[in-house]
Amino acid sequence: MTYARIAGTGGYLPQKVLTNSDLEKMVDTSDQWIQERTGIKKRHVAEEGETTCDLAEQASLRAIEAAGIDASEIDLIVMATTTADQVFPSTACLLQRRLGIRGCPAFDVQAVCTGFIYAVAVAEKFIKAGGIRNALVVGAETFSRIIDWTDRDTCVLFGDGAGAVVLQASDAAGIISTHLHADGEYKDLLQVPAGISNGYAQVREGNAFTEMRGNEVFKIAVTTLGRIVDETLEANNMQKSDVDWLIPHQANIRIINATARKLKIPMDQVVVTVGEHGNTSAASVPLALDVAVRDGRIKRGETLLMEAFGGGFTWGSVLLTY
Ligand code: ACO
Repeated sequence: MTYARIAGTGGYLPQKVLTNSDLEKMVDTSDQWIQERTGIKKRHVAEEGETTCDLAEQASLRAIEAAGIDASEIDLIVMATTTADQVFPSTACLLQRRLGIRGCPAFDVQAVCTGFIYAVAVAEKFIKAGGIRNALVVGAETFSRIIDWTDRDTCVLFGDGAGAVVLQASDAAGIISTHLHADGEYKDLLQVPAGISNGYAQVREGNAFTEMRGNEVFKIAVTTLGRIVDETLEANNMQKSDVDWLIPHQANIRIINATARKLKIPMDQVVVTVGEHGNTSAASVPLALDVAVRDGRIKRGETLLMEAFGGGFTWGSVLLTY
């Protein structure tokens, strides 16, 4: 049986930092409010001219190095992003060019904050089907570009960043199962209402911003994330106690705490990085994974559960042996 196992991880945050006290000067908010309601202390934002592909490139180079392979050995690139550099080509194609490789399939996946989970699930199926040995899976965002920095309801929550993994075909256990869902009925609760074929003028003028009904999103996120964990464990006849690490989408510490409480998973088995970079959408799960791998918390052979929830709504999970 062929598994897809994580051979290497990488993460990258842009240099420019926006603290809560910086935001106090921009909108009517306070460090105390932001920390109490979200757990976020700071976020990183791309400089003018710094793009999603720039961040993705740095995270990818680190993941490739950690996997001990050469970029030329990559057979597939799947990029999760909501904030593509260009209308086309896909950011995956732009990344392929940066990495100096040619010919392998490369495409983007759009599932907002669940994007990385979707991308891993897609890449895993390619590996299992045969023919792909090394897949580069990236979650990268410059969400700061679709944030109205005068809207305190949203601007305190988001940041930019990128995370990547090399998924490698292996006889040893890797990804155990993936679970993906979506429900477009909820499209209005969290959205950028303008796009290429609808309201393009807004996009061109840089006025296409994230709108969110935060309270409603919060409640549905907590319930849904609890359900997806139960679904994942049931599908594999596993108990909550079988999970060594929960790596949740990093949107809000209160969502993470509530999910962990519901699942009776102690917080010292939950990877939390939201305080350091805010909600980086598709980059959030691979960034958290990379931090805990590099600081030695996550070890080979341990069972990891990654889960996310985002615009659409979309939600999903990946259960794996690291
Ligand atoms: N600073 C100060 N006050 C604020 C701010 C701010 N940045 N934003 C809102 N407020 C005020 C509100 O105006 C309101 O004032 P009022 O009581 O006078 O009307 C008060 O704070 C409380 O507002 P609520 O919206 O009820 O605050 P809540 O506790 O729900 O927290 C938050 C808001 C943080 C947005 C929360 O609802 C949330 O985290 N929702 C989930 C959203 C999310 O994470 N989305 C990301 C994408 S989906 C995902 O990734 C899971």
